[in-house]
Amino acid sequence: MASDTMSAPSGATTSAADIDPSAPILLFDSGVGGLTVLEEVRRALPDAPVIYAADTAGLPYGSKTEAQVAARVAGLLGRMTERFRPRLVCIACNTASTIALGMVREVLEVPIVGTVPAIKPAAAMTRTGVIGLLGTEATVRQVYVDRLEQEFAADKRLLRHGAPGLVEAAEAKLRGEPVDPAAIRHAADALRSQPGGELMDTVVLACTHFPLVEAELAEALGPQVRFVHGAQGIARQIARLTTGQEYARKVPDRALFTGAGDVPDAYRTKLAQYGLLEVERF
Ligand code: DGL
Repeated sequence: MASDTMSAPSGATTSAADIDPSAPILLFDSGVGGLTVLEEVRRALPDAPVIYAADTAGLPYGSKTEAQVAARVAGLLGRMTERFRPRLVCIACNTASTIALGMVREVLEVPIVGTVPAIKPAAAMTRTGVIGLLGTEATVRQVYVDRLEQEFAADKRLLRHGAPGLVEAAEAKLRGEPVDPAAIRHAADALRSQPGGELMDTVVLACTHFPLVEAELAEALGPQVRFVHGAQGIARQIARLTTGQEYARKVPDRALFTGAGDVPDAYRTKLAQYGLLEVERF
């Protein structure tokens, strides 16, 4: 599994000794997709205190306009960084990153790692030259994706599909509910039915929710297709940017969900498996 990440600007140069050891890494997504990134962050930095923030009141981002996504992400991250003073923010969401990363970096002083579709590693992996890209509807239309395609896959064929049904499927799976087979079949068919689709051998999971349903997609697309996403690369980038920093967890790691009402128990159980022992509304 390889990846592309967008790193902090080189100007963010706080010395490692100045970082409070209990300062968390803040991971942000619209829902539970960012847990696929958290899993790799845990592997790379097991002692790092973490706050996982899900903008569940704004889910799904994929069907929103660019202005709506940018406003939510900038507003929430502004309030969260002020309240929790993280040492680093990871926007563990392709939709939010491809739309709002530049804007958020302009207003926040904390190092920020974003997530971009892993087109570069996919272009290196494909043998047939046909790559599928599954993202949200908002991600697949971003100019950022056009630029990645031009830069890294100009000599390949990139088949894009915005698959909101997969976001729902991933959220359901995490709650322990069955995955809708029609959502999986629809996404697989939407790629395969495009010109050149029968030759597709590599699929970019360009939404952090989608690795949660990778097994189902693999079954639908067959053994000749390999998947690539950004989680491991993001974790490596976070480890690099926090090199030399001390970690001391003083309070249990927690998950923040925007919106009102009780967070369902099914979520709590799963979040605990990711080491998020407390769940709060934000
Ligand atoms: N997990 C998000 C991403 O990586 C998007 C899910 C959504 O809110 O539509 O793009």
